[in-house]
Amino acid sequence: MKVGVLGSGDVAKTLAGGFLKHGHDVMMGTREPAKLKEWAGKNPKGKIGGFPEAAKFGEMVVLAVKGTASADALRAAGASNLSGKTVIDVTNPIADAPPVNGVLRLFTSLDESLLERLQREFKEAKLVKAFNSVGGACMVNPEFKGGRPTMFICGNDEGAKKTVHGILEQFGWETADMGKVEAARAIEPLCMLWCIPGFLRNDWEHAFKMLRKG
Ligand SMILES: NC(=O)c1ccc[n+]([C@@H]2O[C@H](COP(=O)([O-])OP(=O)(O)OC[C@H]3O[C@@H](n4cnc5c(N)ncnc54)[C@H](OP(=O)(O)O)[C@@H]3O)[C@@H](O)[C@H]2O)c1
Repeated sequence: MKVGVLGSGDVAKTLAGGFLKHGHDVMMGTREPAKLKEWAGKNPKGKIGGFPEAAKFGEMVVLAVKGTASADALRAAGASNLSGKTVIDVTNPIADAPPVNGVLRLFTSLDESLLERLQREFKEAKLVKAFNSVGGACMVNPEFKGGRPTMFICGNDEGAKKTVHGILEQFGWETADMGKVEAARAIEPLCMLWCIPGFLRNDWEHAFKMLRKG
């Protein structure tokens, strides 16, 4: 699959590397290609462009920019370049204010998630929340003693979620589909919970798992 990855931070680089590892074609999109010079050296098959070029290139698009910049990044990518495509939304609505006793602050409320805001503006894009509830270092084929961890996903388009389910299988995750975009009101704050052991004890190597009886 051709994948356009919007972003040049650790998450964008890690996921782009994961897509390349699993045989996909990747173009990263950034406002500053110089930031990706080292990544390009290590990943010669990966391409680099601006936000619109990467979005246009992708049959699927990954949004991996700072939460406060997520709408601007999609605007820069261009609604027409996203139309009809699965867009994996990895972003978290983390506010610029510092954490309190290890608890991050969000700029959204429990009645409206960032995913809903983005889906409302980009109606023709098929947004799916995924990969937001784990740290970058554990996103691609993580190995845990307890087996495959669970990635919670949601989105309005069933076909797009099926595509993301397939990607998560490749990346070593089991998928828990939590339904439509409103479920992001619960999935996005998981980033707060996930980060607490990190901020309090410098423990960043864990993931969530859904256990079922029977
Ligand atoms: N860090 C983690 O372990 C982790 C885990 C799960 C989810 N997430 C989420 O994943 C996203 C990426 O996280 P990150 O830590 O890799 O990087 P980050 O520092 O949160 O974001 C860096 C990216 O944001 C873009 N950006 C910043 N301001 C922008 C603006 N005004 N307009 C357009 N783009 C702008 C930058 O684009 P340029 O390339 O153009 O400079 C850069 O690619 C975040 O939403 C984060 O909450 C992070």
